[in-house]
Amino acid sequence: MQKRELKNPESRDTKYRKAISNSEIRIILFGPPGAGKGTVAKRLVERFKIPQISTGDMLRDAVSHKTEMGLAAEDYIKKGELVPDDIIIGIINERIKNKDCEQGFILDGFPRTINQAKTLEKAGIKIDRVIKLDVDSETIIKRNTGRRICKDCGAIYHIKNHPPKKEGICDKCQGALYQREDDCEEYVRHRIDVYLKQTIPLVDFYEKMGILASINGCGDENEVFDRLLNVLK
Ligand code: AP5
Repeated sequence: MQKRELKNPESRDTKYRKAISNSEIRIILFGPPGAGKGTVAKRLVERFKIPQISTGDMLRDAVSHKTEMGLAAEDYIKKGELVPDDIIIGIINERIKNKDCEQGFILDGFPRTINQAKTLEKAGIKIDRVIKLDVDSETIIKRNTGRRICKDCGAIYHIKNHPPKKEGICDKCQGALYQREDDCEEYVRHRIDVYLKQTIPLVDFYEKMGILASINGCGDENEVFDRLLNVLK
């Protein structure tokens, strides 16, 4: 046992962490609604100590606080439409300037249009990897409709795949779990259509830049996370 440890003193996690901490890393998580972007992003945050920037979370927060931006975005979000580029680009530009993004960040849900992607380029923000999670539509529907989120800490659950120990209560902070309004089947199907029409063109965009990696997003959360770590090597 001890010999094996000496032969291979660096765990796989340590190697990843080293590779990442040697330089800044900027990741885009890309994929259909409910593909698991938020779930893997939270693990990446814990592992690599870089922030998750989720435009969906930022927008929902603005809606719940009834800010000007929240009021402007509310109807789009409820119906599963994309919020207009000028709103979303403004919040991303501001967020990325924060000090906690100096060593990198994980963009979760941005960009979603070619125009949004070009904004990052224009701002001189170099993206290292775009990771696309591939998940079929029927799985997407089951994942979204069964999703529950903690209203206090944002932890993500699923009533079948990842249930909390106590129904309706967050394991981590005891907060109440809620279901997003846009997670009913009708809106999920619409969000998939929106993704196919408006967001899929980004695949070509990032493929041409040579930074796109697609991984299978099906399977349990640990398997998916391992695949993701592999493409970050
Ligand atoms: P947003 O919040 O970004 O929604 P989304 O892209 O539809 O993605 P989700 O958050 O629904 O899913 P996810 O991929 O993070 O999956 P999760 O990890 O939670 O955007 C919402 C709205 O905001 C948009 O419709 C739009 O209106 C607006 N918006 C946001 N960004 C915008 C932008 N850039 N431009 C314009 N408008 C914008 O997982 C889902 C479920 O599956 C969970 O229950 C989880 O437990 C489960 N699960 C995850 N992984 C697995 C696994 N491996 N196996 C089994 N179950 C799993």
